[in-house]
Amino acid sequence: MLGWFLTILSIYMNKKRQIIVTNALPYANSALHLGHILEYTQTDIWVRFQRMKKNDCFYMSADDAHGTPIMLTASQKGISPEEHIHDVKKSHEADFRDFLISVDNYYSTHSSENKELCESIFEVLKKNDHIEEREISQAFDSKENIFLADRYVKGTCPVCSAENQYGDNCEICGATYKPLDLKNPISVLSGETPIEKESKHYFFKLSNFSDFLKKWLSSGVVEEGIENKLSEWLEEGLNDWDISRDAPYFGFNIPGESDKFFYVWLDAPIGYIATFQNFCAKANLDFKEFWKSDSPTELYHFIGKDIINFHALFWPAMLKSANMRLPTKICVHGFVTIDGSKMSKSRGTFILARDYLNNLNPEYLRYYYASKLSNSAEDIDLNLEDFAQKVNSDLVGKVVNLASRCSKFITKGNGGYLHSKLDDEVLWNKFSAASVSIENYYENRSFSKAMREILSLTDLANEYISKKEPWRLNKDPKNKDKVISICSMGMNLFRLIIIYLKPVTPVLAERSELLLNEKLYWESAQSPSINHKINEFEPLLHRIQKEDIKSMLDSANGGSK
Ligand code: MSP
Ligand code: ZN
Repeated sequence: MLGWFLTILSIYMNKKRQIIVTNALPYANSALHLGHILEYTQTDIWVRFQRMKKNDCFYMSADDAHGTPIMLTASQKGISPEEHIHDVKKSHEADFRDFLISVDNYYSTHSSENKELCESIFEVLKKNDHIEEREISQAFDSKENIFLADRYVKGTCPVCSAENQYGDNCEICGATYKPLDLKNPISVLSGETPIEKESKHYFFKLSNFSDFLKKWLSSGVVEEGIENKLSEWLEEGLNDWDISRDAPYFGFNIPGESDKFFYVWLDAPIGYIATFQNFCAKANLDFKEFWKSDSPTELYHFIGKDIINFHALFWPAMLKSANMRLPTKICVHGFVTIDGSKMSKSRGTFILARDYLNNLNPEYLRYYYASKLSNSAEDIDLNLEDFAQKVNSDLVGKVVNLASRCSKFITKGNGGYLHSKLDDEVLWNKFSAASVSIENYYENRSFSKAMREILSLTDLANEYISKKEPWRLNKDPKNKDKVISICSMGMNLFRLIIIYLKPVTPVLAERSELLLNEKLYWESAQSPSINHKINEFEPLLHRIQKEDIKSMLDSANGGSK
């Protein structure tokens, strides 16, 4: 509560903030797709905005490297899990880089820092009497010699008799059950009938934290819709959480146990701390200071709606028990659909980040996602026709066009110098004053509202130029001063638009900075650029071609031409 109050106070007083930001750590199992990219774009835009405000932002991410699926994929490939996660990390890093995601450290949960942190946090939870050992029975594949998670058992639904259902719930009638309640259960791994086998497990006593979580979750850490969902779960009562898994498992050994491991969802969020620790060692910062329960640094987690329980229940309860700082905000987004439906391999819309990057500019998608993102967890549709139309019309047709219409009069007609006076001060003031509302939209992750406001300013700027017709005035040399003053005004409006767009389109902004011959910060919107020399206009952005989208879809479909 106090932390949140201090945050609002420092925003209000314009004090420099220190913020640790994370996105959900992608599984080191397969390549990133355009759904992941929504989250990483959202996080990156927020981080870049904070940096433009000159706040200290530490953007941490990593691969989530543990768990059964990763172990099984490696074994299918005939390589070690270490080798597999190494290869996947390389591909994730390249995708992050090429989508202009500006992480400060990209690490892995399979690290020595994370191992040590998991062990020490586990010891504290145990000491605080929040861990309990229990014998439980589970499905076991005696052929493969492995306990089976619910998803690795399939069979006939015991309630409606639908065939081929997973071991946790029925997709047809919605019933939930245990894997061995299925009729004719089989192990997905061997095709054999699983047996029931007992084993000792460690449970984190989450139910001890109900009151704490109720209070904490009502203090503004999540948006209202999410808070309501969480209250429902809390009302239903919290189950204690099984944090151990039996061998064979790819993960960290539980101290004192040779064949038991921490469940991947225990060590994954601790990976946020480990990644930051690894960063601090390189940046010469004392990482422990940042994780003390009273740390003034803010902590923002960006996640998808499928992993709310891990971040808003288990994680804060663990941090509380370990007497560490709690998250300031958990920012939840919805899922990407493509042309109205869930991304799907059979429909050819399971588009990998790389399929996109091989064909299209990352800033197009960053802009399109920004134009759709809000602070709610609603799903977001990537309609490919709308995407091309919107990017071409907004970014190329309106924003870039403004600079290309105005700049040549200045570079050709005035040796590159902007006029010493603004042609329409009232209009400039209106644009400059918009920085307040746009800033609020960015801060609250209402990016779609920010984009709408920026675009309506762009429309006004183009109207201004169209009305003033500098190309017509320029035919008479007497009007030279007027033409330079109008076009300098146009360039100043372009400059403000680029300041506001910079978190979303950093490369377009960089090219524009080259043209405008200055580096742009948020505060640059407070004063105009006058008597300043600008550079020759170079093309800033090209239109999306239909063939590029077709070629991306072809590669998503396995490269068929
Ligand atoms: N490894 C866990 C996170 C651990 S965080 C301590 C995980 N990984 S994931 O690769 O499955 O997903 C990473 C993030 O991408 C999640 O926040 C998830 O919600 C998000 N998305 C995965 N598919 C998505 C869409 N189709 N659309 C939007 N986001 C989606 O969960
Ligand atoms: Zn059923």
